[in-house]
Amino acid sequence: MASRRNLIVVSNRGPVTFTWSGGERVARRGGGGLVTALRSLVLHHDVTWIASAMSDEDRVVALDNNEEPFEETARDGSTYRLRLIAHDEQAYDWFYNVIANPMLWFLQHHLWDLAAAPTIDHGIHHAWLEGYVSINRAFAEAVIEELERDPHASVFFHDYHLYVAPRIVRDARPDARLVHFVHIPWAAADYWTVLPLEIRRAIHDGLLANDVVGFHTRRWRRNFIRAAEDIVGAVPDWAHDSVGYDGRRIAVTASPISVDPAEFDELAHSPAVIGAGRKLAHNRPEKRVLRVDRTDPSKNIVRGFRAFELYLDAHPEMHRRVDLLALLDPSRQEIPEYAEYVAAIQREARRVNDRFQQDGWIPIDVQISDNFPRVVAAYKDFDVLFVNAIFDGLNLVAKEAPLVNQRDGVLILSENAGAHEELGDWVLSVNPFDVAAQADAIHRAIEMPADERRDRIEAVRGWVREHDLAEWIDLQLQALDAESMVAPG
Ligand code: F6P
Repeated sequence: MASRRNLIVVSNRGPVTFTWSGGERVARRGGGGLVTALRSLVLHHDVTWIASAMSDEDRVVALDNNEEPFEETARDGSTYRLRLIAHDEQAYDWFYNVIANPMLWFLQHHLWDLAAAPTIDHGIHHAWLEGYVSINRAFAEAVIEELERDPHASVFFHDYHLYVAPRIVRDARPDARLVHFVHIPWAAADYWTVLPLEIRRAIHDGLLANDVVGFHTRRWRRNFIRAAEDIVGAVPDWAHDSVGYDGRRIAVTASPISVDPAEFDELAHSPAVIGAGRKLAHNRPEKRVLRVDRTDPSKNIVRGFRAFELYLDAHPEMHRRVDLLALLDPSRQEIPEYAEYVAAIQREARRVNDRFQQDGWIPIDVQISDNFPRVVAAYKDFDVLFVNAIFDGLNLVAKEAPLVNQRDGVLILSENAGAHEELGDWVLSVNPFDVAAQADAIHRAIEMPADERRDRIEAVRGWVREHDLAEWIDLQLQALDAESMVAPG
């Protein structure tokens, strides 16, 4: 375990979000894989966490504290400082709903049909400058103030919301120690040309203002190093996984994030999960295929339903004996593409169900809600876990679910999910666009002999237990230490 140190964690979504309910302020754990993973940092280090005020009550809390840090208490009673920024609401809308998600997320997950989208008009240029850059500046200013209080703290930026903030911090504090972890895929250099030159340059230049830039896989790292060379003229040093840029050397790491197995062991036995499991057992056919996703186009839910339809077409003997349970967490519904995707999911499930359903058997059971106990209960009980993402930075579901599964379930995993780089030997790999092959994989998984199923899932479990979240956090801090000891490039 790395020694205790002072960290400034910076992410759009914070570890906790506030709501006003029943006449009082209620703090709820912030959602999403990133925040769940980082929460354990506060147990072992002295953390100041800078995040956006996202709910109305977050804004009240931010303003009550003059947007200064205040003390918060984590699950185990350890304390950390939280600094919420109450951004200008219009700027935040441009930042989150125009640039970060429909633009950067779509680009990095290859979600466009380029003949039709995107069209970069004045509105996008404006949203870039007055939304994305301006919100990044607000984050950078908060970081600079925290560094004035504690010049020796290391800054740990996260994700695609904050690509240009590190440059602003670096210019103000040339000696600062900055790490940035990108939790989503990095697209190859040519694909970045969809964005205007000044925008794609600002993104790469901003990231290269860090001392360390981290990715989940070697594949995303390779893409980043090549893109940095093409777009801003960085000089790759492939032997040392680093680049030279602007008189400095930047380490580019590949370390897949993981989960805390103890947390899942505990959750699996909790009353909430056991209660949810009882409800899921009602009407359960002999075999259950499970998918767990946010309602995000990158997750490829509609094609997954089509694959299940092809499987049912080819295997009438399985009618009434198998279902596909889709537990979907509603996501980013302010963004039209996301709202439309929910409609597409419902349409496709309805179409398939209308073809096959009979006497109480509904082939595709779609449940759209944010219900983690139900998810963990379903993790315990699947025969097949189906992850067919178009592209995915990592995909934590592929690591979480096998840990608690009690049926020696088989994992079908997209070759474009980051987790495939680690788990590929033990899963049934699928091309996310090839629904025919996905249908075959469902068949193969359902028919797989018991000993083969057990060997595969035990191998996955063993890997995840060995390469857990604590290891990932240590690797990030070690990378920072190593980098602060090397000479400028
Ligand atoms: O890295 C991707 C990520 O930030 C994950 O942490 C999380 O699953 C998701 O995106 C959350 O997105 P949002 O904050 O927009 O709900």
